[in-house]
Amino acid sequence: MVIILDFGSQYTQLIVRKVRELVFYAEVLPFNASLKEIKNKKPEALILSGGPRSVLEKDAPSIDKNIWTLNIPILGICYGLQLMAREFGGEVISSSFKEYGPVLLELKKEAIQEGMPFFHNLPEKSQVWMSHGDLVHIPPPSFKIFASTFTCPVAAMGNPSKKIYGVQFHPEVAHTTYGKILLKNFLANIAHLKPDWSLKSYLDEALNNIQKEAGNGKVILAISGGVDSTVTALMLNKAIPDQNYPFFVDHGLLREGEVEEVLNALKNAGISVKLIEARKQFIEALKGIEDGEKKRKIIGNEFIKILEKESRAIPGVTHLAQGTLYPDVIESAVSVSGVAAKIKTHHNVGGLPANMKLKLIEPLKFLFKDEVRELGDILGLQAEILSRQPFPGPGLAVRIMGEITEERIKKLKKADKIVSDELRKWEKYSEIWQAFPILTGTKTVGVKGDERSYEEVVAIRAVSSDDGMTANWVELPYPILKEISERITREVEGVNRVVYDITTKPPATIEWE
Ligand code: XMP
Repeated sequence: MVIILDFGSQYTQLIVRKVRELVFYAEVLPFNASLKEIKNKKPEALILSGGPRSVLEKDAPSIDKNIWTLNIPILGICYGLQLMAREFGGEVISSSFKEYGPVLLELKKEAIQEGMPFFHNLPEKSQVWMSHGDLVHIPPPSFKIFASTFTCPVAAMGNPSKKIYGVQFHPEVAHTTYGKILLKNFLANIAHLKPDWSLKSYLDEALNNIQKEAGNGKVILAISGGVDSTVTALMLNKAIPDQNYPFFVDHGLLREGEVEEVLNALKNAGISVKLIEARKQFIEALKGIEDGEKKRKIIGNEFIKILEKESRAIPGVTHLAQGTLYPDVIESAVSVSGVAAKIKTHHNVGGLPANMKLKLIEPLKFLFKDEVRELGDILGLQAEILSRQPFPGPGLAVRIMGEITEERIKKLKKADKIVSDELRKWEKYSEIWQAFPILTGTKTVGVKGDERSYEEVVAIRAVSSDDGMTANWVELPYPILKEISERITREVEGVNRVVYDITTKPPATIEWE
């Protein structure tokens, strides 16, 4: 177990990813986690992340002092290094020269003489990724300087007898050429950990935990048809086969044929799910609403009403299971601790009403999306669900600009089917993170036959992404775009123009609302 104490760096998730790629297991705790909380996890190594704040600020984020004397190896990265320097009597200054981006790192002879095996297999000169304004000017008396850059005198330092090391650069970033080797050296050579983490062992432990957490209680689970909730359902089925009650809400804002597809796929996976038909309820509630955030709120509220009704209908329900993933957990933990700016506001299901008193079971809360897909594969889930593109909880509602009507939903469903059919036909579907049409709410002039038309513009968005936090638009080949455009203007009534969205995230978001 490697614990990463998070100071709000944009790279914290990358540290976890890199550690797991090296087949060690890592979890993140907020920097202000108590000593007890940290000890409970039985960490064998600690990593202190970078962060947006400065150690020179009056109320700079810090860690429980006793952590330094836990006698386990510690690696400080960027802010973590500077905190370490201050703690042990070194000097940190605000530099007038801010290093950002790739920089040449030069090892000192001390690295070869005293810094081994931390620097094992690192060349004398290599590229590292920097992102800092402050720097360590004078290292603590008991620390050796192991590397520097042109403008940063202490780019790596350490106290080998204490097994405490710090680097100013970011070894977790791919642009640090030997970063992964350095992390491996720290974990394998300094902390003496064995690279033996596997999803199979995660699964066994997670199934045990579900049994423990649920006890004799009953667990309800809302299935969306996506990978996360389906894998959660499979795990519940394995761990507590007679105590779980999955249901699937048809809110009428799903894609063409989706209800049948999801039910079928679940049936094939051995999950019998209750279908809750609630189209009318949602459409009525959304009547006349044009604002995207209001739509989200209304859909969330209606969903909670159904959840409450379901939980009342099953006597003895004690838990609600959710397919929450690790990026959301890390993000909310850090935003609660107040050091990182909140980037995204939407999560699977918003807060539960206080009077519901259901406890949460979140068996995927330490996993990333690709790990969940791998887990699904281990559990025997079919490729069609595993390769499904993510779909937002509020469904097509956030892709219809302006008021949602039955007619506009039909229009969008038709366009959506054309986009996904074409991408499947051209074998592009599974390599794209998300691809979908949007009803823009804008009307333009066109000619259809010999008649003037004044109809709606449909936009197509196709993006590649690793986690939905940032995204690039996909350079779809023209013949595919041509076919999609021709089919939509020909087959979808009330549309006379199709445009392609060529904006990255940021500054745009993936969904239009
Ligand atoms: P944005 O539009 O913020 O989307 O770039 C990032 C990812 O989140 C999905 N998304 C949502 N998922 N409820 C959800 O469960 C929502 O309200 C919601 N809004 C966006 C979006 O599809 C993309 O994968």
